Amino acid sequence: MTASADLVVVGAGIAGLTAARVAAAAGIRVVVIAKDGPTGTSYAQGGIAVSRGADVEVHLADTLAAGDGLCDVDAVRSILAGAAEAVDELAALGTAFDRGSDGSLSMTREGGHSINRIVHAGGDATGAVVQEVLSAAGPTVRHHCTVIDIRTDAHGVAGVVVAGPDGITTIDTPAVLIATGGIAGLYAAGTNPPGSTGDGIALAVRVGARVADLEFVQFHPTALWIEGATGRIPLVSEAVRGEGAVLLDRAGHSITAGVHPLGDLAPRDIVARAIAERLRQTGESHVWLDARAIDNFPDRFPTVTASCRAAGIDPAHDLIPVAPAAHYLCGGVITDTAGRTDVPGLFAAGEVARTGLHGANRLASNSLLEGMVVARRSADAIRERLGRWDLDRWEPRDLARTVADDTNDGVPQILSDTAGVVRTGDGLDDADRRLHGRAGDRALVAQLVIRAAQRRTETRGCHTRLDHPDTDPALGHSLAYGIDPDGEPIDLGPVLPHPAATAEVTR
Ligand code: SIN
Repeated sequence: MTASADLVVVGAGIAGLTAARVAAAAGIRVVVIAKDGPTGTSYAQGGIAVSRGADVEVHLADTLAAGDGLCDVDAVRSILAGAAEAVDELAALGTAFDRGSDGSLSMTREGGHSINRIVHAGGDATGAVVQEVLSAAGPTVRHHCTVIDIRTDAHGVAGVVVAGPDGITTIDTPAVLIATGGIAGLYAAGTNPPGSTGDGIALAVRVGARVADLEFVQFHPTALWIEGATGRIPLVSEAVRGEGAVLLDRAGHSITAGVHPLGDLAPRDIVARAIAERLRQTGESHVWLDARAIDNFPDRFPTVTASCRAAGIDPAHDLIPVAPAAHYLCGGVITDTAGRTDVPGLFAAGEVARTGLHGANRLASNSLLEGMVVARRSADAIRERLGRWDLDRWEPRDLARTVADDTNDGVPQILSDTAGVVRTGDGLDDADRRLHGRAGDRALVAQLVIRAAQRRTETRGCHTRLDHPDTDPALGHSLAYGIDPDGEPIDLGPVLPHPAATAEVTR
């Protein structure tokens, strides 16, 4: 069966639903497709970083510092400048952001922010509240469906192949927006829902879009530690530290004292690395978060409280056991700040995309913001595409397609063993060998992550190499492009030289 649409949106989190809503309001015929289960957006706790007026430049400086020399300054400035309007629009749609007694927005702080600029809703349930508002605003989502292929012709995108309750169907369309979220579901344990398996990266790579910086997998420093837990691990929001909680080892010593001037509120990569180093020294499996001094903890952090209580912990009286867990992909499909990829008609927004905002390590609470701002702009870019799509000329690539998606592919163990908070060349080489010959999108994405990590012979942002502990100022972005007929990613050679535009950024 073949249907048609002006735009197919893949994914129903903040980016997908925003693009779909704005496009539909402009008269574009949109189909939104989402697989089973909750979105990554719905688990976001901390909030949305928003700066207005003069603070945009300070927010920019914080974002560049966190990004460790690999942010695209123009992209950062452009996206941050759109934050206020995006948040105002969310409020107008009915998002009940938390407010003080005078009615003004309550602002909190997280790692790497020099001031309080993060708005939140439902205490620590920002993502869930936003997801509900955007789902209600429409358009309708076709759930339980997976896009298994994107078709191209000489004009770029031409359609999608969908697996769903009605079997395999196709939709002819000149525009596809990928908004499938991240890859932390490919790890044995992470903060994302199980569906975050990098499907959008594989779809994009298979039609010839370039991806960049996939080695920068951000580990959240404080996932709730539960013995032997795998799959989705509850998050303990960084806002808990933003409001005064401190990280301690068993002996009661600070984890971050002397590591960074911002201490426990240093950028996330630095805190995760400090925890990993303390765990290596002590041989323990977790550290502790002392949040006992925070007033009204259950009201301010209801989601964290519920997760802790389910594990038998009362944050008002007990220390909370925490450890780093896979959380966010800073690299992704290369796009501009309106979601355009290299392939005419193919757009990407949200975590799956690499706009240049995050560099080597995302600043906390810049992700919902990016998803909204880029998705709104991509709706306009898609409208332009519809006006000229039969004029575009493009060389379709004849790339191998392996539809197999074997969930017993060993990928979670391989990634967790070798591409965690700290990595070594030997471990990554071992992962490359173990992944060799494995079929399916999950294995392809894992291979891209490992190859990028192998090539980055330095420590930068959320990529820590024990065998290369220093940052190499000469190294820039890592790229991968397409796949060869055996399904192997084609590398574009070594990591690119560092772009002069960001070379002077220091932290
Ligand atoms: C958190 O609440 O700590 C997560 C926020 C984020 O990932 O930006």
